Amino acid sequence: MKIAVLFDGAGLARLGLELAGHDCTGYELDPNKHYLSKMVGSGNCILADATKVDLSNYSAIWASPPCQWLSSARTQGNPKSDFAINYLDWCLKLSHSILWVENIVQLKTEANFWGKVYNAAQFANLQNRNRIIGGRYRIPRLLKSYKKIYSDLCPCITATEYKGCASDKRRASRWYGRRLTLDECAYHQGFKVPRKWLLPPKNWFDSDIKWEYQLYEAIGNGVPVYMTQKFGEEYS
Ligand SMILES: C[S@@+](CC[C@H](N)C(=O)[O-])C[C@H]1O[C@@H](n2cnc3c(N)ncnc32)[C@H](O)[C@@H]1O
Repeated sequence: MKIAVLFDGAGLARLGLELAGHDCTGYELDPNKHYLSKMVGSGNCILADATKVDLSNYSAIWASPPCQWLSSARTQGNPKSDFAINYLDWCLKLSHSILWVENIVQLKTEANFWGKVYNAAQFANLQNRNRIIGGRYRIPRLLKSYKKIYSDLCPCITATEYKGCASDKRRASRWYGRRLTLDECAYHQGFKVPRKWLLPPKNWFDSDIKWEYQLYEAIGNGVPVYMTQKFGEEYS
């Protein structure tokens, strides 16, 4: 099946869908994340604004939008302005008969009714990671029934895992009692760091450590590969 993976990031969601046998194309706006995604799976991804792409040739869409506001009129200011629309709303309005829209769980319960909450631990015994997936899709077979927290597993791998185990109990490194390596973060997200990721792009003029932060961010913001694979396998 031809799937467009919107907000492709470093390609983790796309990799899972490819492992399920699908022909995927990722669309990502950030050149650094796109650089990484080119080295993941088929590397089939395009540097583009996902909201401006012609999606008519795709049978299905996977969208993991950032939790920010999208505005065609301006990029700053009051997000509730008439000029601003929400990435999430935009994704949920896509008319494809197979549609997965993935996002974080909000504190206010009523803000979460647009989809079903899953914990990544229902797909593989690796981490607690609660996310909502809405749209139109077949419910995948799960290892276990939903629980917000499985006490034998670490919390979510975050985008700032490089900070180590400060005081935030929701951080995986706090649970392990030490800073996690990039490889360990990737392991919990269900893939191996491509060695070429360690080399920044030619136009990277910042420090090596800042590049490493980019990698942590790309991994922590990604969708666990084993999750999208299971959703994709329902159509394999
Ligand atoms: C939650 S991350 C996606 C993670 C990705 N699906 C993965 O599994 O690795 C959201 C991504 O959307 C990207 N993004 C933000 N606005 C975008 C736009 N208009 N078009 C394409 N990508 C965009 C961000 O740069 C970020 O990498």
